[in-house]
Amino acid sequence: MLYDIIVVGSGISGLYAALYAKKSGQNVAVLTKGNPFRSNSAVASGGINAVLNLTQNDSVSRHMKDTVDGADGLSHLRNIEGMCKEAPNIIAELREMGVAFDADESGNLHQRPFGGSYANRTCYIADKTGASIIQTLFLQCRDAGVHILSNHQFLNITKYKGKLSGVTVLRRHNSQVIALACKSLVLAGGGYAGIFRGHSTNSQESSGDVIAAALRANMRLSNMEFVQFHPTTLAQSGALISEAARGEGGYLVDENGERFTDELQTRDKLSREIVSHMLKGHKVYLDVRHLGEETIEAKLPSARKLALGSAGIDLVTELLEITPSAHYSIGGIWVREDTSTDMPFVFACGECAVTGVHGANRLGGNSLLEGAYFGRTAGIEAAKKAKKRDFQPIDYAYVNREMRRVDRILNGESLFNMNSMRRNLGESLFKNAGVFRDENSLSSALEYTHYLMKKEYGMHCVSKELHNNVELSSILEFKNAMLIAEAMILSALARKESRGVHFRSDYPNKDDSKFDDASYLEQLSPSYFTVSFDSAMHNNIWHKLKKMFYFN
Ligand code: FUM
Repeated sequence: MLYDIIVVGSGISGLYAALYAKKSGQNVAVLTKGNPFRSNSAVASGGINAVLNLTQNDSVSRHMKDTVDGADGLSHLRNIEGMCKEAPNIIAELREMGVAFDADESGNLHQRPFGGSYANRTCYIADKTGASIIQTLFLQCRDAGVHILSNHQFLNITKYKGKLSGVTVLRRHNSQVIALACKSLVLAGGGYAGIFRGHSTNSQESSGDVIAAALRANMRLSNMEFVQFHPTTLAQSGALISEAARGEGGYLVDENGERFTDELQTRDKLSREIVSHMLKGHKVYLDVRHLGEETIEAKLPSARKLALGSAGIDLVTELLEITPSAHYSIGGIWVREDTSTDMPFVFACGECAVTGVHGANRLGGNSLLEGAYFGRTAGIEAAKKAKKRDFQPIDYAYVNREMRRVDRILNGESLFNMNSMRRNLGESLFKNAGVFRDENSLSSALEYTHYLMKKEYGMHCVSKELHNNVELSSILEFKNAMLIAEAMILSALARKESRGVHFRSDYPNKDDSKFDDASYLEQLSPSYFTVSFDSAMHNNIWHKLKKMFYFN
């Protein structure tokens, strides 16, 4: 099958990219492997940031400053400026499409405070913002004639003479590998916080598939060490309790009922304070009882439902135990301002891309905004490139290797319990590459990841069923997860300083002389794309991959 443009991923950035590419008159397909309402965009419940109301003493430059301050010294200022300036137009556009943001009777949008923001700047739909936006964008894409190929799991990028020719895909409904040709490709397949299985707000499907494919295609990655922990997730499962709860005035208290922190500081600092308090032997709880049932029902209905369903706690009358969990990956595929990557005709946007707007720590409410803003850019730029090029031949020798690889995973003898392997990787990463990390802990995490990688020979499906074989998908995801874990840990070992979400107990201070431009006035922090994943590491991993991991 041929598409001018293929978009991998159906979160906000992918759907925006598809819509704008389609508007440019291109034939566009979106590949989505699972349930789009489990994507991180759909889970980002609390809201999307935009300065709408100057009477609140807010301004676009204030939004920029908060974003830069939150980023802890690593910022791409031009991208931040572009995104913050465009935010009000994005909200207006979403409203026009039919997103019903909460508003007063005159139609003025309600906005809530979020951590690290100077003003009430986060627009929302109760605590279901992401899901509502995704629903609307899906309808828009469908009506515009975008082909949504659901149950299609992206595998790899195919090249002809070194340039993009298409993608390989697993059709989950029959376990067949197919090739789809395209002129431009937009990678918008989300991040990798799901690799912290058991300690993540993400579904386990967030295994960094597109970033792993980019790595296999020898593309440049950046800042893989920066993984954001969300301060308030269910203690039992890591499920997200939206920042909306604190934005609406919720408290964090310990078992003595004592508040011990500023609930609206940035997520990096708050997560560290919570974990430090827990390490002293305390438990930490979310307390929203003082908001009253009416407010909780109006503003936090999903949180109430989740707490009741998963923990048997009614937020109206009870405290809910919480803990920080991996939520958002800041690192990923290196991109230029126009979202182009270092591979011609391949673009990246959303969580899988490093646009530099989040630096070393992202503000809540800026991810949906980033997804919309750069998704739009990616769609427009991918369309421009596609118009100027012909389809390239698909290398069927490569596709056949993909088919054999998938066949082996399906038909080989299963030697391991894949579910517990995924859990064990998550445990190891959480313990050793989590909110606090150091040389020893990171080395242990690396060693364990390598131990798992060496077991690749026995990772096969127990069920040989061809129809929707979830095991097959899960093994493919796990292979990506291990690769991403390795890249993340190597990057974390290389950054011998503490900055934003990356806290090294053995290097507790920022080291601007080695790792920062030390000035917000610089247009581009030179280090944000160079430090963490240098070419030596990249080559090291890539050569190893060629030998043992992928091209076998
Ligand atoms: O807490 C939340 O609602 C998450 C929002 C975000 O990550 O931007």
